[in-house]
Amino acid sequence: MIPKSKIEEIVNAARVEEVVGDYVTLKKRGASMIGLCPFHNEKTPSFNVSPVRGIYKCFGCGKAGNAVNFVMEMEHLNYIQSLKHLAEKYNIEWPEQEITSEEIEAERQKASERESLQIINNFTEKYFADILENDEEGKNIGLSYFEERGFRAETIKKFKLGYSKDSWNHFYDTALKAGFNPELIKKSGLIKENEQGKIFDAYRGRVMFTIHSVSGKPIAFAGRFLKKDPKSPKYVNSPETELYHKSNELYGLYFAKQSISKTGYVYLVEGYTDVISLHQAGIENTVASSGTSLTENQIKLIRRFTENVCVLYDGDAAGIKASLRGIDMLLEGGLNVKVISFPDGEDPDSYCKKSGPVEFAEYLDKNKKDFILFKTALLLEDAGNDPVKKAQLIRDIVESIAKVPDAIKRSGFIKESAKILKADENLLINETNKILRNKNLQTKNVIADVPKESNYRDEIKEILDLQLHDHQEKDIIRLLIEYGDKPVEGFKNAAHFILNELHVKEIDIDHPVIADIIHETADQLEKDELNMMAFVNHTNTIITTFIATILSEQQEISPHWEKRFDIIMDAPGANYISDIESAITRLHLKQIEKMILSNQEEFNKAKTDDEFDMLQKVHKHLIELRQELSHKSGTVIIK
Ligand code: UTP
Ligand code: MN
Repeated sequence: MIPKSKIEEIVNAARVEEVVGDYVTLKKRGASMIGLCPFHNEKTPSFNVSPVRGIYKCFGCGKAGNAVNFVMEMEHLNYIQSLKHLAEKYNIEWPEQEITSEEIEAERQKASERESLQIINNFTEKYFADILENDEEGKNIGLSYFEERGFRAETIKKFKLGYSKDSWNHFYDTALKAGFNPELIKKSGLIKENEQGKIFDAYRGRVMFTIHSVSGKPIAFAGRFLKKDPKSPKYVNSPETELYHKSNELYGLYFAKQSISKTGYVYLVEGYTDVISLHQAGIENTVASSGTSLTENQIKLIRRFTENVCVLYDGDAAGIKASLRGIDMLLEGGLNVKVISFPDGEDPDSYCKKSGPVEFAEYLDKNKKDFILFKTALLLEDAGNDPVKKAQLIRDIVESIAKVPDAIKRSGFIKESAKILKADENLLINETNKILRNKNLQTKNVIADVPKESNYRDEIKEILDLQLHDHQEKDIIRLLIEYGDKPVEGFKNAAHFILNELHVKEIDIDHPVIADIIHETADQLEKDELNMMAFVNHTNTIITTFIATILSEQQEISPHWEKRFDIIMDAPGANYISDIESAITRLHLKQIEKMILSNQEEFNKAKTDDEFDMLQKVHKHLIELRQELSHKSGTVIIK
């Protein structure tokens, strides 16, 4: 992740006319420049660049944006890559890493600790495997356990399974004799120390699983207890070390990655034994999250290899329900998620053994279900006809759907689940939009992971579609950007005035991007750092595209606006306050219309005379307000 300050440095340095000028011959025309659009074929120039505002817009094909958007489109780069491209053009140092000498020293120490830990883990992996293969106790207890579970010799070798003797110090003594120092052995988590300072082996009488890094190095161990003893945990796992961060690893990935790339998807299971069994059955694109719910880093790790995940559940309903939430995270990561469940009491390991590799593979093929539809059906079973439960269920499903970053996929899911739920599709759409809106507010200012090319385009398309319907909101944003920093009596500035009006009149903004912009403006005002140009050069490419489009549209309508922008140092145009007032009035009017409609819906539900009276009064009040506002907006417009 590169620092926000660096992004700003690059974005501020990049002059749109220079960036575009690398690809398009531009001619000056008034305050803007014009040329042949590089994105579609044309003979007469309709590609417009405004150096003052830092944006471009093609009036032929509609493409618009700032310098960064242009590079993204032109070079087919993602956001960060485009920034890097611009940094090179403008000789801005790209932050590989700025490190102080203390940090270098600390890094060096960490690196040498990692190296030492790696050496002791290499040693230990061999030690456990050797005990399993050659030691009497190892063979009698460990090896026979694995054999009983049906693991073949080559599988045991491949996964470096092992055994740790039921002894207090056998490992510790061996490691000391091999020359490892006690501090290091302790750091590795392979020994433990009690309160009296007595040192003992961490894994006693357990079969051992080695956890490998993506590149196949042993970075941690897990020991399974062989007896059913409620006092001992089933597995003891390595602690977090410089070498091993549990939340960054997936068990089995080293052995699975080739097959994942080849097949294009990954099976996700819960346990170590599930991974081993499936690999042995020839299903090598299998990894485990090791019992806990997935982390963001694990999801990123998966994404390095594939976008398609199939989650194999252990077969008990309670377990499935518990993991539903975790799976939402996969959706959020932009992955396509399918699920397969197994008969009650079976897990992938047991079921694979029971049915044999061929039948098992067939089972997987036949029982893949799309996650959202699976979840819908599963919860619906529970809810039955209980209306309260059903409402909760809809909320649940919508939460999941809202996590899908791809707009087209989202609407597909909405259609499908509305069918299953026998619910109104529009209801689901509205609920989803509500969640999306909130999410947009929460994630503002966060530099998210680079959006994938296709998602980026889908989102842009979605926003532009929305734009067609949101005149009033669009006007307000345009005025905000254009005049936000101009004075208004009684307020800090026009932006303050606009936000105050929206607040006082309780006007809801539906449009997610507009809501974002308003929210950020509020933040800026609070810190007394209002900077409307910051939106044109925003780090969020959706926002810049949106604004470039709005500003260019305005230019189409009133060419003198350009001039106005050029004389920005002079007194502002006399009309901006009344423009703002009339835009607010129109928004308010729209809001009142909405309220009248929803009030009318309430009429249908009213049961008592009191309720009816109440609604009647509200209705009357709203109608009066509407009258007043439309009158006002009429006069404002005439003026
Ligand atoms: P399971 O209990 O399903 O274990 O836990 P398993 O690996 O399938 O073992 P068998 O088949 O019953 O022998 C699933 C995963 O949860 C983690 C482990 O990663 C395990 O593989 N786990 C479970 C722990 O880390 N600690 C525990 O005490 C239990
Ligand atoms: Mn299991």
